Amino acid sequence: DWTMAEFRATKIAEIRAQVGKGRVICGLSGGVDSAVAAVLIHEAIGDQLTCVFVDHGLMRAGEADQVVSLFRGHYNIPLVHVNAETLFLNGLAGVSDPEAKRKFIGKTFIDIFEDEAKKIGGAEFLAQGTLYPDVIESVSFTGGPSVTIKSHHNVGGLPERMNMKLVEPLRELFKDEVRELGRELGLPDVFVGRHPFPGPGLAIRIPGEVTKERCDILRKADAIYLEEIRNAGLYDAIWQAFAVLLPVRTVGVMGDGRTYDYVLALRAVTSTDGMTAAVFHFSSEFLARVATRIVNEVRGVNRVVYDYTSKPPGTIEWE
Ligand code: XMP
Repeated sequence: DWTMAEFRATKIAEIRAQVGKGRVICGLSGGVDSAVAAVLIHEAIGDQLTCVFVDHGLMRAGEADQVVSLFRGHYNIPLVHVNAETLFLNGLAGVSDPEAKRKFIGKTFIDIFEDEAKKIGGAEFLAQGTLYPDVIESVSFTGGPSVTIKSHHNVGGLPERMNMKLVEPLRELFKDEVRELGRELGLPDVFVGRHPFPGPGLAIRIPGEVTKERCDILRKADAIYLEEIRNAGLYDAIWQAFAVLLPVRTVGVMGDGRTYDYVLALRAVTSTDGMTAAVFHFSSEFLARVATRIVNEVRGVNRVVYDYTSKPPGTIEWE
């Protein structure tokens, strides 16, 4: 008879035993896993933990601010916030290949993280929000984009390079259990219940070249889509919902004029672990409302389509 309260207490004792008086650095991705790991570790060892949030500027609307205010304001956990948007966007200029985007983002992320870790005097331990499916996948999965997930998500190679030992208190948990632990630790519901978001962020939701303009258009459209989903009470029934900005322009009419703007694709899937996924079925009224709002409110988009592909054969992300 195993409860989250017991798990919490056991892990806190284990973390204290492992770390002793050592220092721990934790990279925050903005997602649930690294946030829960950080809060749990902070409860165990307090200010021996420093969090580093490398903000690549490829987050959804308002997300970076949420992370910063949660950690600094709500929990008072020491946090280094690195705003690296310009660096990432400059490096992504001219890059269209999905794996090249991931590689650049992963490498740059690690370089910045390492610099920041040195600036705060280094640490013996690196904390990561690795989950049970990550542990299994990294030994059994041998192809496709998921291999690269690990190289960014869990900053592969970094512990060896920096000679740090790993602290991974969530290694036995599935996503739903991490959410339960997050609630147990007092993380706000909107944060804990958040849909998974890929490490490379919006860069892999903009096929073709990533620019600041395209990121801003996508952020606006995505925010409208998610707002409508929340208002309709559908958010928690969906595993992931997001918009994809296609590098394709089509012709439209607006008032008396002709427009020539981007196409936006909407995606929403149900899943239990992200390995397979089914299309989420909205009502046609709902989709029509979202499409109308986006075309009316987001400059640069004049056509909206819905993705009806399950996984397999599709993947959840478009890149
Ligand atoms: P796919 O697109 O492979 O995605 O069906 C499965 C799950 O993994 C997420 N994903 C990523 N997460 N770095 C990440 O941290 C990545 O490069 C990456 N690619 C996909 C995706 O959002 C979904 O939850």
